[in-house]
Amino acid sequence: MERSLSMELVRVTEAAAVSASRWMGRGLKNEADDAATTAMRTVFDTIPMQGIVVIGEGEMDEAPMLYIGEKLGTGNGPEVDVAVDPLEGTNIVAAGGWNALAVIAIADKGNLLNAPDMYMNKIAVGPEAVGKIDIDASVTENLMAVAKAKNKDIGDIVATVLNRERHAAIIEEIRASGARIKLINDGDVAAAINTAFDETGVDILFGLGGAPEGVIAAVGLKCLGGEIQGRLVPSNDAERERCIKMGIDVDKVLYMDDLVKGDDAIFAATGVTDGELLRGVQFKGGYCETHSLVMRSKSGTIRFVEGRHSMEKKPLLVMQD
Ligand code: FBP
Repeated sequence: MERSLSMELVRVTEAAAVSASRWMGRGLKNEADDAATTAMRTVFDTIPMQGIVVIGEGEMDEAPMLYIGEKLGTGNGPEVDVAVDPLEGTNIVAAGGWNALAVIAIADKGNLLNAPDMYMNKIAVGPEAVGKIDIDASVTENLMAVAKAKNKDIGDIVATVLNRERHAAIIEEIRASGARIKLINDGDVAAAINTAFDETGVDILFGLGGAPEGVIAAVGLKCLGGEIQGRLVPSNDAERERCIKMGIDVDKVLYMDDLVKGDDAIFAATGVTDGELLRGVQFKGGYCETHSLVMRSKSGTIRFVEGRHSMEKKPLLVMQD
């Protein structure tokens, strides 16, 4: 892949984030998602690559844009798998909450797991705890391993968990261990990535979230030298059948190289609403500001990009209302 692709991809997530942020707090999650998707799709047309969506907004018959199998890019340049989540955290934007992102992950063709849209059990950590976690070990064992790896007491560890009934046992065990919890309402991509940044104050992510989000987070953590382990959790026979058809063993633990193969992958995200790591879009009158993270696993480069976008000239930003 061309290294310039990283910066090109930020333009895509910036456009999606700006468009989605117009809907912040308006209680209209589908409108926010449509705005992000349209903007992302439009800017992708200018990116020099031959991309195929492997994780997107749905199957071809259910999503008008960014559907699985859709070709993206100018048709020149590297052949890549593209995973998109134009708006990760639709409810977050609708409520004006924390940590909504516009996010893209790409890798060389054939290297991203085509994860079906179902739940994945996940455990994720930053670089210091790589190789120390085990999705099949207990929550307490994992917390102790992370505490040891980070030279902390267990009471210093903060685990992020989606605030869902299905996580009651995990939450209870974390509390019993003495570790602390950050319960989030949505947005486990940001939660997984945050484990690799000390300043966010979170050490580990536990629990079931979307499988597509698991693959996107894996690309981010690959760039950061962190780790995520996952296991698909089909909710019914149809989902189980789907895994069998796709040749995915649902009992198998999915490690980093199962989620994203190879050593060259790019992750780009722009904050839609404020988060621990990225600020959300701010409109200043005449222009708006964006805050993005873009990383490439091959070089290990991590960039934070602050954008200031003229709303009069609107270069490549799709701002609908
Ligand atoms: P959306 O952006 O599609 O609303 O997903 C947000 C999210 O919170 C993800 O971050 C997470 O993986 C998943 O939903 C959790 O699913 P559920 O809401 O069913 O628990």
